[in-house]
Amino acid sequence: MGYNITLIPGDGIGPEIVAEAVKVLEKVAKKYGHEFDFTKILMGGCSIDATGVPLTDEALATAKASDAVLLGAVGGKVGNSKWYDVAPNLRPEAGLLKIRKGLELFANIRPAYLYEELKGACPLKDEIIGDGFDMVIMRELTGGIYFGERHTEEVNGVLKATDMDTYDENEIRRIAVKAFEIAMKRGKKVISVDKANVLDTSRLWRKVVKEVAADYPEVTLEDMLVDNCAMQLVMNPRQFDVILTENMFGDILSDEASMITGSIGMLSSASLGATKLGLYEPSHGSAPDIAGKDIANPIATILSAAMMLRYSLDLDQEADAIEAAVKQVLKDGYRTVDIMSEDAGLKQVSCHEMGDLIAERI
Ligand code: IPM
Ligand code: MG
Repeated sequence: MGYNITLIPGDGIGPEIVAEAVKVLEKVAKKYGHEFDFTKILMGGCSIDATGVPLTDEALATAKASDAVLLGAVGGKVGNSKWYDVAPNLRPEAGLLKIRKGLELFANIRPAYLYEELKGACPLKDEIIGDGFDMVIMRELTGGIYFGERHTEEVNGVLKATDMDTYDENEIRRIAVKAFEIAMKRGKKVISVDKANVLDTSRLWRKVVKEVAADYPEVTLEDMLVDNCAMQLVMNPRQFDVILTENMFGDILSDEASMITGSIGMLSSASLGATKLGLYEPSHGSAPDIAGKDIANPIATILSAAMMLRYSLDLDQEADAIEAAVKQVLKDGYRTVDIMSEDAGLKQVSCHEMGDLIAERI
């Protein structure tokens, strides 16, 4: 079968890691008899340099017309790049927000689990890790403070900035349904995270999530305040199965969750909407410091490509093959520098070597 895939290499290490994912996808195509037709579009800083905006309408239309979108990363050094001191809608990150909104990708799925082989990289104590943890963060992605009205004004000589945080019940309901659906296929436990002791948006969140939960009697629902959740993630990560939360809390908690796995370079993510079209990207950023050095870890992007095959193209067997190849490479002792340790028998490899090694094992 033929599939149209939009590629967004983006900025920083983006182009290097996307190239390795394409290498692996091409091997999958060859082995399983598919044809992947790749179309590259510009987004982020590279698009600003070439077109003046972080994502053109034409590029968005290309993505919309494809079967799935695979993204590397966008943006430069925050606070210290030529793309920072410009209007908010002209920053690299605005391209990402525009594509999320434009493709109506309201559900961001970020798995965080501990790889047996990488236990040594986990910053938590052994008694906390136990036999490992495996959770999924379901982050609402097209609402809340990210998309509210924002402006900075001067009132009586004093600068004042405003960011509005708004949710309607339909936005909450559709992400809650996705979270419960995923929980049904996993550990049947949803922890919904909010700040209902302070925020109205959180009170509405709690109410609607409870209503949705009534349709899933097999799934247990627990509400947790976001500050407590931040603490629980490092104190008892094994209690989590599905974490359901709003846009901003999900942004913060997903970084925390990925860090306790010890290997942010390993974690993939999917952004989905009501149709099959999805956007797949590593959970990490563009890492401008190490761009172009061929030392980045391409595994998160390669695993994102596996999620793409599974969720957008319904190619489960092929997705399994990629995930198995990644596991095998780790078992065989190959590590990029970010996941390298002193353990005996490990071999440090570059970004492109890691891509080769995984492709060979498909
Ligand atoms: C993420 C990133 C983005 C976000 C930035 C780059 C706008 O941090 O995907 O988590 O905040 O959503
Ligand atoms: Mg983030």
